[in-house]
Amino acid sequence: MARRRQLYEGKAKILFEGPEPGTLVQYFKDDATAFNAQKKGTITGKGVLNNRISEYLMTRLMEIGIPTHFIRRLNMREQLIREVEIIPLEIVVRNVAAGSLSTRLGIAEGTRLPRSIIEYYYKNDTLNDPLVCEEHITAFGWAATQDLDDMVALALRVNDFLTGLLLGVGITLVDFKVEFGRLYENDEMRIVLADEISPDNCRLWDSKTGEKMDKDRFRRDLGKVEEGYQEVARRLGILPEAGVRDLKGPEMMQ
Ligand code: C5P
Repeated sequence: MARRRQLYEGKAKILFEGPEPGTLVQYFKDDATAFNAQKKGTITGKGVLNNRISEYLMTRLMEIGIPTHFIRRLNMREQLIREVEIIPLEIVVRNVAAGSLSTRLGIAEGTRLPRSIIEYYYKNDTLNDPLVCEEHITAFGWAATQDLDDMVALALRVNDFLTGLLLGVGITLVDFKVEFGRLYENDEMRIVLADEISPDNCRLWDSKTGEKMDKDRFRRDLGKVEEGYQEVARRLGILPEAGVRDLKGPEMMQ
């Protein structure tokens, strides 16, 4: 890791300069945080699993025409991505009431929503990522109306596709968070899916038992956190080849 210039360190990932201009290397850590980093911990093997799960889901999404920043996985903990200008919004799509929606509006967790609901949060740690509406987004210039329309359309396509894919392996996609970036290419700008899609930013419940297989196991001290992430990978048929013993993964393996 020492040989590349580090550009940014977040709570769960590190970004390094990529091998070619316009590329970055995204490194997945085992660190876990919740409630805006008030709760901190380590989930052994999380980085390896999220790298693999996010690669798998982004690849499937690209196959149906969703533009993403993903280029290819490099090794157990790293993937090559396109450099984008991150839009400072977290787009949350919800199918079933849970988490902050249940708390804020008093709707029991597990209630199926009458239709998928989209929410916007302003990415700002100091302010605790507040819920915002379209007026704030366009008035303060975080995204133009057209950008927002593109993000909503993409987020809903991601939701439709992932809901079906996950249901096929017995998982209910309760909700998830995605981030988008602006990709500049040949004097043109495109909105593309960025960041990651993994059990860190989705709620994934066993369709039959309702058992949680996502970061809520960590947030709510439910135990068996690694096992939840592993079970998602196992059902998707992508557990690392060497099995669960290999989840620490080598630091570098190019
Ligand atoms: O906490 P809340 O119910 O608003 O979370 C909705 C969804 O967004 C959950 O799947 C959660 O994992 C994800 N999320 C996230 N990063 C945040 C906040 C929420 O990935 N900062």
